[in-house]
Amino acid sequence: NWTTDNVIEEQVAAIRELVGDKRAICGLSGGVDSAVAAALVQKAIGSQLTCVYVDHGLMRKGETEQVEKDFVAATGVQLKVVDAEERFLKALAGVSDPEEKRKIIGREFIRVFEQAQAEIIADEGPAVEFLVQGTLYPDVVESGGGTGAANIKSHHNVGGLPEDLEFQLIEPLRKLFKDEVRMVGQELGLPEEIVQRQPFPGPGLGIRIVGEVTKERLDLLREADAIAREELTAAGLDRDIWQCPVVLLADVRSVGVQGDGRTYGHPIVLRPVSSEDAMTADWSRLPYDVLAKISTRITNEVRDVNRVVLDVTSKPPGTIEWE
Ligand code: XMP
Repeated sequence: NWTTDNVIEEQVAAIRELVGDKRAICGLSGGVDSAVAAALVQKAIGSQLTCVYVDHGLMRKGETEQVEKDFVAATGVQLKVVDAEERFLKALAGVSDPEEKRKIIGREFIRVFEQAQAEIIADEGPAVEFLVQGTLYPDVVESGGGTGAANIKSHHNVGGLPEDLEFQLIEPLRKLFKDEVRMVGQELGLPEEIVQRQPFPGPGLGIRIVGEVTKERLDLLREADAIAREELTAAGLDRDIWQCPVVLLADVRSVGVQGDGRTYGHPIVLRPVSSEDAMTADWSRLPYDVLAKISTRITNEVRDVNRVVLDVTSKPPGTIEWE
């Protein structure tokens, strides 16, 4: 019979036996899966694990700090944070095509991660032999599905592993579903903000800016997104929605009026959705007063944004993210 205690005990014992006195590394994305996988392996082998977090500059407000402080505080894990913002922004300069953006972000991510790996190996010696991944059961099924479905979007972490991988993989969540992973995370003492986190795409805000990705636009979107998240949380709606992408239409401008002046600013799109598994989704019927509050605050507080629009499309035909 399945209990979180059993899963943890079983995995901890198996990982200890497998790793022995060798070392492991783990990439943290800020998401639930990699956080729980890392915490589990940390419980098993302690300081023999080093985590790597690549800050690509496409994260939301406070996200990097959450990994740096809260996750480390809860687990005591050794963490290497790589600041790669400049590198990513440079690689993304001039690019507006969604698939091109996704491929660039995926490629740069792997490069930075491999570089960090090499540095850790240089420091620690040849005893680093294991790579921890937060692969879940649905990931395994989807990757092996072979249905020949058309490629709709290139998810950054699918097929991203090099063929000549020199590491043995540790995937302690391979048999679990998301809700089970959350229970394991909770049992391991991870903070609520990490365990109950809504999905956030690996390419981050880079695929929530329709148009070229620049630092200025990212800062603007970060502000708008933080306001939306704050108000949804304040209204107690976090558990009712699957996620709420906030999108900047950077190539669109519309006329507005603020104070007694004309403005010519960008629209922000709110995309709150309800879903079971992200394969299909419906737009969330959020209370009008919450939408009104978000709209008022974003147009008042975010420079260059003079309009907030609501996406009322289900998936299909729309996908959840705009790119
Ligand atoms: P779409 O936009 O395809 O999104 O309807 C379905 C779910 O997947 C998330 N998503 C991603 N997650 N890497 C990820 O880790 C990605 O490249 C990626 N693209 C989309 C999206 O946020 C939604 O939950």
